Amino acid sequence: MSALIEFKGFNKFFGEQQVLNGIDLKVQPGEVIVILGPSGCGKSTLLRCLNGLEVAHGGSLNFAGRELLDKGTDWREVRQQIGMVFQSYHLFPHMSVLDNVLLGPVKVQKRDRREARAQAEALLERVGLLDKRDAFPRQLSGGQQQRIAIVRSLCMNPKVMLFDEVTAALDPEMVKEVLEVIQGLAREGMTLLIVTHEMAFARAVADRIVFMDAGRILEQHPPEIFFTNPQTARAQQFLEKFSFVAALPKTTQIKELELP
Ligand SMILES: Nc1ncnc2c1ncn2[C@@H]1O[C@H](COP(=O)(O)OP(=O)(O)OP(=O)(O)O)[C@@H](O)[C@H]1O
Ligand SMILES: [Mg+2]
Repeated sequence: MSALIEFKGFNKFFGEQQVLNGIDLKVQPGEVIVILGPSGCGKSTLLRCLNGLEVAHGGSLNFAGRELLDKGTDWREVRQQIGMVFQSYHLFPHMSVLDNVLLGPVKVQKRDRREARAQAEALLERVGLLDKRDAFPRQLSGGQQQRIAIVRSLCMNPKVMLFDEVTAALDPEMVKEVLEVIQGLAREGMTLLIVTHEMAFARAVADRIVFMDAGRILEQHPPEIFFTNPQTARAQQFLEKFSFVAALPKTTQIKELELP
């Protein structure tokens, strides 16, 4: 099977500082990759490069059979196929939930409003928020707004979803409801690249853990191996605080987790 995403010898600088250094990463369709690593190691930058929010400096980046680093890449078009959700959800405050979700499909993708609305409602139903379709963002909790942000992205029918610490700003009781949505997408076979500090979630959801440090990928292993037998001293040190994760069964459901 050919990879959906392939970084090869990929580099990125901010001024003099090299923040991504020779990244080689292949992602197959349907794979769930969790990227872990200490603060500042380049996780967000890697995701941002993938959808063109940052400019690359060498190497190659193939997506769905296309080289994205070629001149002339239409990033607006690429971004419709690469959904991204961040820590802050940025819903438009003056628009209802449904209008927020339909903005991309109708205004950007020029889809028929009725057809897009049917999909939007099905997605809202799936994340348990169909009854909020006419509400405004300020009337929703952080966890609800984040689930709406995920629906907004999904409604564009992306080939892959990128999640960058989507639960980091949420109150603890709202974290699970968002993680469950992501675990549901993983189960349905959606290709996902996830940056998270929720280690138990990472263990439960990932097909592969990519461990980064100082702009490099140091390890790529299935979670059972990464969490029980990390190969590098850097990863061992990183995991010291999370030794409980190694004991979790492979079939862990998010709702069963005692998130710290
Ligand atoms: N716009 C920018 N200008 C200059 N340097 C930047 C910029 N964005 C990020 N950096 C630097 O690039 C490096 C990687 O940052 P990045 O945000 O990708 O790290 P991260 O792994 O996502 O960290 P965290 O876990 O804290 O979110 C850091 O040293 C950071 O200071
Ligand atoms: Mg980050």
